[in-house]
Amino acid sequence: MASGVVLGIESSCDETGAGLVQDGRLLGHALASSMDEHARFGGVVPEIAARAHVQAIQHVIRQALDEAGLAFTDIGAVAVTTGPGLSGALQVGVAAAKGLAYGLGVPLHGVHHLAGHVAADTLEHGALPDPCMVLIVSGGHTSLLLVRDLVREPIVHLGDTLDDAAGECFDKVARVFGLPYPGGPAIDRAARDGDPTAVSFPRPLTGPRDDPYAFSFSGLKTAAARWTERLRSNGKALPVADGAAALQEAVADVLTRKALIACEDHGVDTLVVVGGVAANSRVRALAEERCRTAGITLRVPPMRLCTDNGAMIAAVGDLLVRADSPPAPLDVSIDPSAPLEFAALRPTTGARAAV
Ligand code: KG4
Ligand code: ZN
Repeated sequence: MASGVVLGIESSCDETGAGLVQDGRLLGHALASSMDEHARFGGVVPEIAARAHVQAIQHVIRQALDEAGLAFTDIGAVAVTTGPGLSGALQVGVAAAKGLAYGLGVPLHGVHHLAGHVAADTLEHGALPDPCMVLIVSGGHTSLLLVRDLVREPIVHLGDTLDDAAGECFDKVARVFGLPYPGGPAIDRAARDGDPTAVSFPRPLTGPRDDPYAFSFSGLKTAAARWTERLRSNGKALPVADGAAALQEAVADVLTRKALIACEDHGVDTLVVVGGVAANSRVRALAEERCRTAGITLRVPPMRLCTDNGAMIAAVGDLLVRADSPPAPLDVSIDPSAPLEFAALRPTTGARAAV
């Protein structure tokens, strides 16, 4: 039984994740985070993240198996994030995945981290329709993608951010506001008591001559920093809740506006919003409101699957296995800046895993 269970391992940043998926069903997953260890530095310290992965990975994999009521011998394939991400952090997951795949004699699949974010939604809402529009909003990426068959067809990039990612904007502005790391959830919490119309922050790249699918958040970050400086230099207390609500409104407005234009231009009737920033309450609410008005079906993974986790990598692995995708060679290496073209890392050299 359970020869089709895929173990997914995620270690690209500060979360160590393991998940078990079979036929699109999530059987169990576990997560450890080194977030608290980075808090006093105001951002992820790569060396600390890598060391934390080493300490957590075995435990996390065992916990996922326990939750699913499975043993190592039930694992039929191993999928692992090979990029993009922090090199040292990625190495830990890839080394663990290789060891397990080799030891168990099962295929190994290298997975693109962002494809994992997309696949996370399938664990809750089933297979993705072909085609669908995907808005990926994470700490390092903000992209609009036209996705057909996630594991069989190339992923079409309609637009990316020209500078900061949406999550990065939240994280950096939170720091300026004196909110704790990670900034996104802190802004979201602070915004609950704020007035989104209290400050009129810009809506970058939304003019008639602008690229409709490109994003830019560094100007917004600067506007928030200037607003903060101006108030502080006048000796005034910073209305953090208003600043947070207005910033969140600007980010949510730009993201959802562009995503809906992309759906309309390409005649696509499903929008999937994924990545850490998809956990933002205003992004979720505004996407819902605008999709309803436009007659577009909105899919957003549940909160626990929005931020980095191992289940989403297992979900891609499961799709790859079911699509008969060739496994990665056991000498597969990490690719810290892998562009998102395919969900799987394509084996280009060497022998494939001999299993
Ligand atoms: O996808 P993710 O977990 O990791 C990356 O692959 O980057 O995304 C992390 C990002 C961080 O920038 C974090 O501040 C942001 O997602 N984030 C949020 C919220 N929860 C996480 N941003 C806004 N509101 C939230 N509730
Ligand atoms: Zn991520």
